[in-house]
Amino acid sequence: MAVVEVRGLRKVFDGGRARRRGSHGRVNAVDGVDLATSEGEYLVLLGPSGCGKTTLLRTIAGLEQPTDGEIWIGGHVVNELPPRARRVAMVFQSYALYPHKTVRANIVFPLKAQGIDKTERAKKTEWAAELLGIGPLLDRRPRQLSGGERQRVALARALVREPSVFLLDEPLSNLDAKLRASARDELKRFQRRVRTTTIYVTHDQVEAMGLGDRIAVMYEGRLRQLGPPVEVYDDPADTFVATFLGSPPMNLVPRDGVLVGFRPEHLLPETLVHGDDRLVVPFQVDRVEHLSGDRHLYGTVRGLGAETRVIARLPVTVTAPVEPGEEHQFAVHADRLRFFDADSGERTEPVSVRTGS
Ligand SMILES: Nc1ncnc2c1ncn2[C@@H]1O[C@H](COP(=O)(O)OP(=O)(O)O)[C@@H](O)[C@H]1O
Ligand SMILES: [Mg+2]
Repeated sequence: MAVVEVRGLRKVFDGGRARRRGSHGRVNAVDGVDLATSEGEYLVLLGPSGCGKTTLLRTIAGLEQPTDGEIWIGGHVVNELPPRARRVAMVFQSYALYPHKTVRANIVFPLKAQGIDKTERAKKTEWAAELLGIGPLLDRRPRQLSGGERQRVALARALVREPSVFLLDEPLSNLDAKLRASARDELKRFQRRVRTTTIYVTHDQVEAMGLGDRIAVMYEGRLRQLGPPVEVYDDPADTFVATFLGSPPMNLVPRDGVLVGFRPEHLLPETLVHGDDRLVVPFQVDRVEHLSGDRHLYGTVRGLGAETRVIARLPVTVTAPVEPGEEHQFAVHADRLRFFDADSGERTEPVSVRTGS
């Protein structure tokens, strides 16, 4: 186990393929990131495609040289160490299993490269296979495995090296939705057992919310927020985080130079929002969707300045009839309101909104 830390990390690609170019046609893939895991932590790095997640991970693993900044693993600067010496295991999105080798040979391969003797190799392979529940599959080849099983083989191959850090780059993205849920659960339980510090990359906020001890939200090469899932969800640092997490995303309504934010589940029929300290809005509903028991109401609100599109999510326990074309009084409790600067998108101090009704 080890703590991973990056300080002032930057990675610039010359003449890259992306939009995020500096004045010389360069891409700032990682643009000044400071980040530290704690011991044995499951840290999820979350952000949209192209925000620099893979580059950050590859730089930690030693597969890319940083343009600037330091990488610390287990209390040492590892910038000058080759990948193998960093005791880091990276599992890629593609798993990169050898198709012609058996599962056993795939798992044992890195140990052979390390010059570990045969008995010891066999012992470690059995141990990893047992831990991941793939003992019965050791003589198969990758194409004879399901997506979930392949993932476990890739993990076993990473595990036998007894790394001090796991770096997992979207390991579930090749699985179908159903398998993802069980594989996600399995990964989490696996990490709980081995307690190896893990950085897990995903662009899927549901995965991040479910898996992470903490979530690091990344956008355009920068870290936007780092905190436990509940904190990042409840107290987003800016409008990017507010809308990237949550499905449907946080509503943002402009008013007097600020954006007033509230989650769809907090926009409720007025009669259900108690106390005086609340924001009451006439909600013009134009569409109703039924999703796994909840009702999603799409429409516009007035009374906050310009008319703005918002979404309300009513739990199954709220049975008040709402039809498209109707206007209803809805409200949000003041505790649930978040405020953002309309220009920068950064979180600001609460301002007083019209309350009561
Ligand atoms: N080898 C490379 N050469 C040039 N540009 C690259 C290279 N690798 C990644 N990039 C660019 O850096 C940015 C971050 O990419 P990446 O780290 O793969 O993002 P993510 O994993 O979050 O999708 C993207 O704009 C990508 O096009
Ligand atoms: Mg990637």
